[in-house]
Amino acid sequence: MKLGMHTLTEGRGLLFGGDYNPEQWPEEVWVEDAGLMRAAGVNLVTVGVFSWSRLEPEPGKHDFGWLDRVMDLMAGNGIAVDLAIPTASPPPWLGHRWPETLPVDEAGHRLWYGSRNQYCPSSGVYRERSQSITTALAERYAAHPALAMWHVGNEYGEVCHCDESAAAFRTWLRARYGDLDRLNEAWGTTFWSQGYGDWAEIVPPRRAPYIINPTQRLDWWRFCSDELLSHFREQRDVLRAHTPGIPVTTNFMGLFKRCDYFSFAAEQDVVSNDWYPEPGNPKAPALTALTHDLMRGLGGGRPWLLMEQATNGVNWRPHNLPKPPGQFRLESLQAVARGADGLCYFQWRASRFGSERFHAAMVPHAGADTRLHAAVRAHGQELRKLAEVAGEPVPARVAMVFDWASWWALEDRGRPSDRLNATEQLLDYYVPFFERGVSVDVVPPSADLSAYALVVAPNLFLLGDRDAAAMTAYVRGGGVLVVGPFSGVVDPDAHVRTGRFPVPLREVLGGSGEEWLPASEERPVRCRWNGGAPDGAEAGAQAGAQAGAQAGAQAGAQAGAQVGAEFTAHTWTELLRAEGAEVVAEFTEGDLAGSPAVLRHATGEGIAWYVGTMPEPAALAALTERVLADARVSGALPELPPGVEAVRRGDVLFLLNHGTETARVPIPEAAVDLLTGSPAEGSVTLAPRAVAALRP
Ligand code: GAL
Ligand code: ZN
Repeated sequence: MKLGMHTLTEGRGLLFGGDYNPEQWPEEVWVEDAGLMRAAGVNLVTVGVFSWSRLEPEPGKHDFGWLDRVMDLMAGNGIAVDLAIPTASPPPWLGHRWPETLPVDEAGHRLWYGSRNQYCPSSGVYRERSQSITTALAERYAAHPALAMWHVGNEYGEVCHCDESAAAFRTWLRARYGDLDRLNEAWGTTFWSQGYGDWAEIVPPRRAPYIINPTQRLDWWRFCSDELLSHFREQRDVLRAHTPGIPVTTNFMGLFKRCDYFSFAAEQDVVSNDWYPEPGNPKAPALTALTHDLMRGLGGGRPWLLMEQATNGVNWRPHNLPKPPGQFRLESLQAVARGADGLCYFQWRASRFGSERFHAAMVPHAGADTRLHAAVRAHGQELRKLAEVAGEPVPARVAMVFDWASWWALEDRGRPSDRLNATEQLLDYYVPFFERGVSVDVVPPSADLSAYALVVAPNLFLLGDRDAAAMTAYVRGGGVLVVGPFSGVVDPDAHVRTGRFPVPLREVLGGSGEEWLPASEERPVRCRWNGGAPDGAEAGAQAGAQAGAQAGAQAGAQAGAQVGAEFTAHTWTELLRAEGAEVVAEFTEGDLAGSPAVLRHATGEGIAWYVGTMPEPAALAALTERVLADARVSGALPELPPGVEAVRRGDVLFLLNHGTETARVPIPEAAVDLLTGSPAEGSVTLAPRAVAALRP
């Protein structure tokens, strides 16, 4: 049984706090910290993420006194502690005494200590020392009143290509394949004379003269993710044995490639994420929303924790733009709106030394007497007004399917175009939903799709038979499915499925293709809407009404509205033919002139769409209007000005202005803004970065 966020929020409301690294400060400062935390409404801190060398200065010799005092101080101030298992940054003694614990890169170079993350996930010694510090911490703090959650490691993601990792890889492969014949078959080793005659010959993909076997690489991704997960599981099991009532988490990094977070999330009590939107990136609000929706999806819809975010500029981009006043609050509330029950920051107090001394914090170098800290305090206080949303779900009728294995398989060398990018495709398809205030769940292909009116798979390059059959059954049973280009291409061994593509979805899509044709960079791909769908004109008119308000979306609105209107696409085309589907859009130029670009197939009780190119944003927006009409799904509000995000969590409608202009948002029913306490009727006016949390 999983312990949820409610074990933390009960009696506390939404959580507010951050990474607290008291080991960097003299104890007098801790007392000041506790006072400031209370004044700011901090109720959760993550302690000890990077304190292994303070806790265990020599192997087996512990120094817990300082941590005892920190834990007592927090308990005395009513602040809960998310206590870290410090395995992300081993002390120098580990690498010094046991160099085999240091990771080796693809080229065979060992990476040294002096930074962080220098561990080999498969190292027996590292595993042993991890268990030992975990056990010591669990024994010491199991009954401490401040202990509220365990935080294992930090941002799992290391890989190692050493001999010990090679041995672990072979063990993993034996479990997957049983015998070498099966492995040789799966890896297609008759190609380039790669046949393996002995397990000992198998190594991780190391630096090689030319393109490495794609299935070997895919299995390596799978193995690396599993190996890190098994390290997490080992610590989790120790913690659960000592403290069955305390939830265990490890912090994610959004759409992070190295770890299959669906498999990680299944092993955690609480999903937590570190998220640092890039100030100045116009796509940041949508990408952030997508990431938050993924966190909800990872937890099966349950509330999650924003473990780290920044109050201001970070230090790790080449040029770190600051956040204007109001920005971090807007970002925090965006997370609340999308299901977060905790809003935490990296870090509480800005470091004076070390590699992150120029990273923003809740207490900046200039101290508490600053506009930034005043804003932190105000935000901590105002979160109490939203206590009632804790635990509330974010209902969605649309699902976007995303799969790590498909991502790994897609983005490898030696394909028709390396410009196809799984996460960019996902974001491109997500944006029109975001702009229309349509909530989306991000789910794995194996998810139960039956609860959704619309399922969008922007790219599923790798698709298993069972998942393809489930998608087919979903459509036959009344669902609306949209499939993006270059999907269903390979099976789970990364072997190309032969026949007209996408082979496992051909029937349900009512169409198929025979050639993938990457497009020239010089000229956009020209296409034309054909109408086709009986309700197309009507849906298109809606697209016009809504998209018309969106600056820059004019062309798309018209294209969506008018049969015969043109639009452009880019990067990719396919030679397709309809086999029962309507041709909703066709290519108009060159070799492909007159052949289908977009197909729509009414089949069984449902409708399946296939998009054989990459439509420009406005065209994707128009297409989205049409599939939403097919699925009879509408946004949170009938009309949404550009830049305004609308999302419902429980009873509360959140409106967030990410734009640079003041926006007037019409609202259908009278409400109270929980943040201001003021009534709202008819419409709400939002200055840039303003937020309303409306309860009817
Ligand atoms: C995170 C990490 C923190 C800190 C932060 C800086 O990736 O977990 O320890 O380094 O970035 O933005
Ligand atoms: Zn290693």
